[in-house]
Amino acid sequence: MTGQPTVLLGVTGGIAAYKSAELLRGLQKAGMDVRVIMTDAATRFVAPLTFETLSGHAVHTGDLLRADSTIAHIEEGNAADLFVIAPLTANTLAKMANGLADNLLTATYLAYSGTVVAAPSMNTNMWNHPATQRNVATLREQGVFVVEPGAGELACGVYGSGRMAEPDSIVAEVKHRLQVVRKTDLRGMRVAITAGGTREPIDAVRYMGNRSSGKMGVALARAAFDRGASVDLIKANIDLPRAPGVREHDTPTARAMYRKVMDLLPDIDILFMAAAVADYQAIDTAAGKMGKSQDHLSVRLEPTADILCEVATERRDGQFIVGFAAEFGPEGLSRSREKLKRKNLDMIVFNDISRSDIGFNSDYNEVIILTPGGESKVGRAPKETVAEIILDHTAREVRARRGEFLPVT
Ligand code: PMT
Repeated sequence: MTGQPTVLLGVTGGIAAYKSAELLRGLQKAGMDVRVIMTDAATRFVAPLTFETLSGHAVHTGDLLRADSTIAHIEEGNAADLFVIAPLTANTLAKMANGLADNLLTATYLAYSGTVVAAPSMNTNMWNHPATQRNVATLREQGVFVVEPGAGELACGVYGSGRMAEPDSIVAEVKHRLQVVRKTDLRGMRVAITAGGTREPIDAVRYMGNRSSGKMGVALARAAFDRGASVDLIKANIDLPRAPGVREHDTPTARAMYRKVMDLLPDIDILFMAAAVADYQAIDTAAGKMGKSQDHLSVRLEPTADILCEVATERRDGQFIVGFAAEFGPEGLSRSREKLKRKNLDMIVFNDISRSDIGFNSDYNEVIILTPGGESKVGRAPKETVAEIILDHTAREVRARRGEFLPVT
């Protein structure tokens, strides 16, 4: 892709069509040239003139018979770097899943060979209907990146899932998909990634936790999926948009995370332990809410299972295990090397958590990747970029062990 990326925005006939104008502006602010295509139903919610004025381009609408030069419009679509459809109604979603091409938008989808991002929007019951869920799964199999709808109050007054994702999230997804360098070096591999921070209950309402947001682990999960891996994200207390195509498992505590990792371990090729797992848990968890009657409160703690140490004893030949080291201060580098050995890891990623501009809950990280035979520094960069570099190193090591050598990029 050279110069300004061109994005084709498809708008279908749902109430969330009004949000597509905001989405268009967001895409433009992110440096994209946006062309718009609408279904007839969409034009009843928002006039094409709105999109024409905002985009600075003619808007194509209608069915195939009425469109004066359908082929030319479809070709214009094909020239786009990415096709984003938002909102995507249940009806158009079903047509796309089944290869129907009865209007300009669905015909363009069928003829388009580039990256497609779709943001469904519909009533909760329609979204939850098995037919829709089947169609969404089919779209994913067709390679569409689905930005899942959120929960909230819908236009019909009902509270539930189905509300179109916020324009900001859709813009972030489009940016991410445009920036991805299409590498396929993890194709055929199964990758598990832990992310987020575990919370260990003290009583029915309180817990001990940490500041991990899960951003580092989710960035790895997205990037690994893009490179062709089959990905399981084992997540603890993360409040981030779902990573399209990634299987997610909720493991709020260290114990739950331990069980899920050990459960998946026999089937995976690569494990990334990016989660901040609690080192201690309460021995007794009070059933209700502990009262304020005492001057002092002692909570008796016991160590949690060290997941990576357990993995070290259970792992089979050919598996590649990557730990992270959250260390305080630059001298943490030598402690990270010690962890690499003690936990029998193939790689460890050191980040200095004394800094507020990287690491915990930041969008950025700066790391040193350690292997038994080497060390490589990655300067401060968005976590998405750091994830790509970690995966470059991982894929190269894994392939080399299999006797397949990848070019250095
Ligand atoms: O989630 P973000 O906000 O994006 O922040 C990212 C991060 C800073 C949390 C991440 O980059 C990171 O450093 N993760 C590891 C945090 C951690 O627990 O480090 P540690 O040095 O305490 O543990 C070393 C390794 O042992 C880690 O891979 C950890 O997952 C693992 N561990 C720890 C405890 C335990 N009981 N079992 C484990 O397997």
